[in-house]
Amino acid sequence: MTDYDELFAETAPEHRIFADKSALDPLQTPETVVARDTQQRRLASLLNGIESGYLPATVSIYGPPGTGKTLTTRRLTTEFAARRDDLATEYVNLKECRTLFSAANEILLAVSGETVQAHEGLDGAFEALWDALEAYPEWTVLILDEIDHIAQDSNYDPNDFFYRLLRGEGKLSRDIQLSVWLLSNELLDVDLRLDSRVQSAMSDEQVFFPPYGVALLSEVVGPRVEEAFQDGALPADVRRYGVGKAAHRWGDARKTLTLFRRAGETAVERELSAVTRACIDDNLEATDHEAIRRKLLSLPVQHFFVLRAVTNRVDRRTGETVQPVTTDQIADSYGRMIPSNDHLGERAIRSVLDDLELMGFIETWIESRGREGRVKQVETTFEPTLISAVTDEYISQTPTLERRQ
Ligand SMILES: Nc1ncnc2c1ncn2[C@@H]1O[C@H](COP(=O)(O)OP(=O)(O)O)[C@@H](O)[C@H]1O
Ligand SMILES: [Mg+2]
Repeated sequence: MTDYDELFAETAPEHRIFADKSALDPLQTPETVVARDTQQRRLASLLNGIESGYLPATVSIYGPPGTGKTLTTRRLTTEFAARRDDLATEYVNLKECRTLFSAANEILLAVSGETVQAHEGLDGAFEALWDALEAYPEWTVLILDEIDHIAQDSNYDPNDFFYRLLRGEGKLSRDIQLSVWLLSNELLDVDLRLDSRVQSAMSDEQVFFPPYGVALLSEVVGPRVEEAFQDGALPADVRRYGVGKAAHRWGDARKTLTLFRRAGETAVERELSAVTRACIDDNLEATDHEAIRRKLLSLPVQHFFVLRAVTNRVDRRTGETVQPVTTDQIADSYGRMIPSNDHLGERAIRSVLDDLELMGFIETWIESRGREGRVKQVETTFEPTLISAVTDEYISQTPTLERRQ
């Protein structure tokens, strides 16, 4: 039987600080989009192009995480489509798509509610997509979110995918008016190494979402912390302090909401009556770590284990990770970690390291070592123990992976 006295007593400190903690959940969509006037104006005028019979083939919407790309784009297109019969909008998130075929199928599913079988390939998926879009209103805006997650797979490369999407036979012959809005953290043609054929099929329309500065970030998270905390539990100067730190470090609304949630939880744990600057300070690193953890967990298998190999050298005496390391040492650690039938050659390791550097996980530089010649040095940009801390979770969330260590 529940002892309610005990239960309520136990949970009371939480209520001293938080009024509605869920207001700080970044997944909750806020009622209004604030602080993105320029971007909204630009996107709205692109949509209004249908008045004069034109939508660009592609619109690249890019900027660092947590800058409101998904929220703003979805809200704006949905509101526009709700006011017009001649425009439809569909939203697809490609983050979880492991192959380009599954990405095409995901789009098809959003548009038609159906999918095609693997043997029908990209061609089959796109053919079915054009069939389905024939029954759509005159104009369609297709939002492809987290498009930078798509990558070369064993059957296709991103160029194949984009070429079919933008210039597919079936699309041209049916005269389908499709505008593809590509959301990503980086500019795509650079990031995915798109070839000139695809680049010329894309429009130049680009809308950048910069990191939030102090004033805008305050506008974005203001209403949320207002709702989340009890009156007086987040003093104005502490709130300003937290927003200032978050703007300088990240400019990321998602991380800022998380920072305030964690700071509030710290105040609860310490049985304080209000959040203090120390509560903010103590959670700045932790918020960063949480974000890195999430990024690590979404890495492809090879990338994950090469990164693991980068951090695998430990000083026997101190137990600390030894960095920097050389490519040879990484190849050696990787070889010892992964069974030989799944070996990555030296060249493949180099190319994974290039990717990891582009993604910001590692830094590399060249050192001259006299007779040994010039040697590439590799170091993680984050606390190296984070990767061993997430390895078990990574393995258990990856069903194709046998236990490797
Ligand atoms: N301009 C904004 N107005 C209101 N809330 C915002 C705004 N920008 C970001 N947010 C909040 O931050 C979260 C993350 O924003 P999101 O659009 O997903 O960022 P991105 O797609 O750029 O990574 C949103 O769910 C929302 O809670
Ligand atoms: Mg997003």
